[in-house]
Amino acid sequence: MAWTPQSWRDYPSTQQPVYPDQAALGRTLDELRALPPLVTSYEIESLKSQIAESARGDRFILWGGDCAESFADCNSSAIAAKLKILLQMSLVLVHGTRRRITRIGRFAGQYAKPRSAMTEVRDGVELPSFRGDNVNRPEFTLAARTPDPALLLRGYERSALTLNFIRALVDGGFADLHHPENWDLAFVKHSPLAAEYQRMVDSIGESLRFMETLAGGTITQMQRVDFYTSHELLVLDYEAALTRQVPRREGWFNLSTHIPWIGMRTNAGDGAHIEFCRGIRNPVGVKVGPGTTPDALLATIRTITPDNEPGRVVLITRFGAHAIGRGLPPLVAAVRDAGLHAAWVCDPMHGNTETVVPTGGPWAGKSVKTRKFGHILAEVEQAFEIHRAAGTALAGVHIELTGEDVSECTGGARGLSDDDLSRAYRSQVDPRLNYEQALELAMLIARRAN
Ligand code: PEP
Ligand code: CO
Repeated sequence: MAWTPQSWRDYPSTQQPVYPDQAALGRTLDELRALPPLVTSYEIESLKSQIAESARGDRFILWGGDCAESFADCNSSAIAAKLKILLQMSLVLVHGTRRRITRIGRFAGQYAKPRSAMTEVRDGVELPSFRGDNVNRPEFTLAARTPDPALLLRGYERSALTLNFIRALVDGGFADLHHPENWDLAFVKHSPLAAEYQRMVDSIGESLRFMETLAGGTITQMQRVDFYTSHELLVLDYEAALTRQVPRREGWFNLSTHIPWIGMRTNAGDGAHIEFCRGIRNPVGVKVGPGTTPDALLATIRTITPDNEPGRVVLITRFGAHAIGRGLPPLVAAVRDAGLHAAWVCDPMHGNTETVVPTGGPWAGKSVKTRKFGHILAEVEQAFEIHRAAGTALAGVHIELTGEDVSECTGGARGLSDDDLSRAYRSQVDPRLNYEQALELAMLIARRAN
């Protein structure tokens, strides 16, 4: 069957909002189709070649951000904080792994969420589930929960605003080692990790000054650090409206983001999301978990890239610390033995979500969704071991984190307990590592990756 940006409509699709006002949806999509793209094909191709390098073990991908972005958090401090933690983690990883790092944010478009139920019932009232800020609104009223196509435009605009600020910060030297304020640890100063982190920053700074003395000037090449964007490929109407052909390049590019990924709930081999990804030139992430069989995985890879293009498919595995040991090795062996190119990235978050009931503090007796730092670390460590044993490379990690001091995951150097969760639990969706936990994870990964 020939592919077009609309051919996914002939395939079974899940997780699509039902818009009662189809005429309004049509007008919105026309408007989106006429607006400029958010990213360029040039950037997409360069990310693809970096992913191919990481699949060979020559690079490491640091992929992270919120479970869901919210329109309210499209502000200067939240964006800068996210950039800063990703930058600091990548510095630690460069230092520890001696590999180049590719940074991908779950930002500038991560506004739609998959839901396990179409509707939510409260006190006998049934309304559509909240699906993220670019689909509907969280309040429990019919007006708020009815999918509103105008929100797709608001999401596009906030993606553009976010990206504009990120590009300006990067161009303005935010990631430059000559700007020590961006490498400083703010509230983690008293953390057990601070001294080790400071040593790394100092040692990189010294190497840079040494090279600059040799070169007799500032090494500008090293000042530029790129960030790529990603979000879950969910609302296909939106993605199709931003999928374009560009001059002097073959094929179609989804110019809403550099790398979209297909989530666990939409990764069916015969489904609309895989069909959509078949025809775009972007690298594509596919979530892989306990329900994925070797045959289904091989079929998915072959559908997305019949010509076995390096860098095109990223397999994001999310089994949970207790299941990865059994689940991952047969999949790695199958892909390796079939000679298929794929970059393996470990998502140690989504298989490790659990519900706890704090016994003390303001939330005593209440059920809270959390993740344990120890489980997250254990899944990454096992991923390294499994790939080492199979002769493949762990190409990177995919993490839900924030640059702020939240209390959503337990454990870590400061030993956050279940009773501490109430202090600053802000996520509407999945629990994220806070600034200090995220940096600690990077340090432990850096030690392990050597
Ligand atoms: C996510 O990455 O936020 C997500 C929903 O993950 P998964 O599809 O793996 O459950
Ligand atoms: Co999530």
